[in-house]
Amino acid sequence: MDLFAPVSLGDLQLANRVVMAPLTRLRSGDAGVPGALVADHYAQRASVGLIITEGTFPSAEGRAFPGQPGIVTDEQAEGWRRVAEAVHARGGRIVMQVMHGGRVSHPDITGTGRVVAPSAIAIDGEVRTPAGKQPFPVPHALTAEEARATVRDIVAASERAVAAGLDGVEIHSANGYLLHEFLSPATNHREDEYGGSPANRARFVVEVATAVADAIGAGRVGIRISPEHNIQGALETDHLDVLATYVALVDGLRPLGLAYLSVLHSEPTGDLVQELRRRFDGPLIANSGFATPTTRDEAVQLIEASHAEAVAVGRLVIANPDLVERWAGGHPENVPNPATFYAAGAEGYTDYPTLVASPADASGGR
Ligand SMILES: Cc1cc2nc3c(=O)[nH]c(=O)nc-3n(C[C@H](O)[C@H](O)[C@H](O)COP(=O)(O)O)c2cc1C
Repeated sequence: MDLFAPVSLGDLQLANRVVMAPLTRLRSGDAGVPGALVADHYAQRASVGLIITEGTFPSAEGRAFPGQPGIVTDEQAEGWRRVAEAVHARGGRIVMQVMHGGRVSHPDITGTGRVVAPSAIAIDGEVRTPAGKQPFPVPHALTAEEARATVRDIVAASERAVAAGLDGVEIHSANGYLLHEFLSPATNHREDEYGGSPANRARFVVEVATAVADAIGAGRVGIRISPEHNIQGALETDHLDVLATYVALVDGLRPLGLAYLSVLHSEPTGDLVQELRRRFDGPLIANSGFATPTTRDEAVQLIEASHAEAVAVGRLVIANPDLVERWAGGHPENVPNPATFYAAGAEGYTDYPTLVASPADASGGR
């Protein structure tokens, strides 16, 4: 198979298998409204097969960062409508990563007086708030009824996303945020139907996915997981427990017929990811995590060896709005600048040059 050949993920038709990974960039202000700059950023990258937006909060309580966009208010939805229109005008496809931050937040960020999680266990560390760095707070443990209300929040957010013109949603169940906190035995000490056994810890995520698929159609719903990623205190260090938990999860997802399963794992070709893929029985988007940026060779290899249907690429899409063209033609790449990943404004966001505009090319013509 060819990285540059089209592929369908459920109802999503991709022109190629290079997927823009979800990338938090914090340029949506206090109101969480993506503006013209954000629309420009995504439109510049419309030649990837699919854009997955940065993690977007479905309720005030689910907000994890100042500057993060939301999909709660009408203004936020209108902002996303302009983003989707700009991407579609360039022939691209875009789904929204719906992300409830869970305990990875602070009351000064949520503005609701609390943060929530499966259990009342704080992250050991500090969180950046508008008032500076503060210790992570002890979260409120959701009651079972509150957990079900949270499912409804995520459904309503997903409905707003597609009503605003997004092509679908990706449920964020990775990287230590709320859904992942239910999966990990380190963050979930519950004794009700949402805690304890692997199947119980997987239950909340299956309920979210089922409800979102029912609401907007499974063919435009993907989900992201990151087993054994071990960040933000969502530790998964017992391999057998990991396997049992994620098998329970994927067994619960399979009958839904979701558009794709996206897995962040250091060994996408290894037994765990490939076993989950077999059980999911649908398209896999692979990403090997943060250790080193995804390379062209790695992406080509994953697709040629049929280890995945598509590859999520993060940092090189930040730095190269025309990455697909560069990779297809074997051209050099711009280097990403981490200092501007979470900064404000256009620098490091909409000013990375394309091939035609790049100084290297200009000088090459002399
Ligand atoms: C600046 C930055 C922001 C990120 N934000 C998100 C996010 O909002 N949601 C998510 O699931 N992953 C997020 N990630 C992880 C990326 O999606 C991706 O998995 C990671 O960058 C590794 O891929 P790469 O080696 O191609 O960069 C982020 C990564 C970076 C560098």
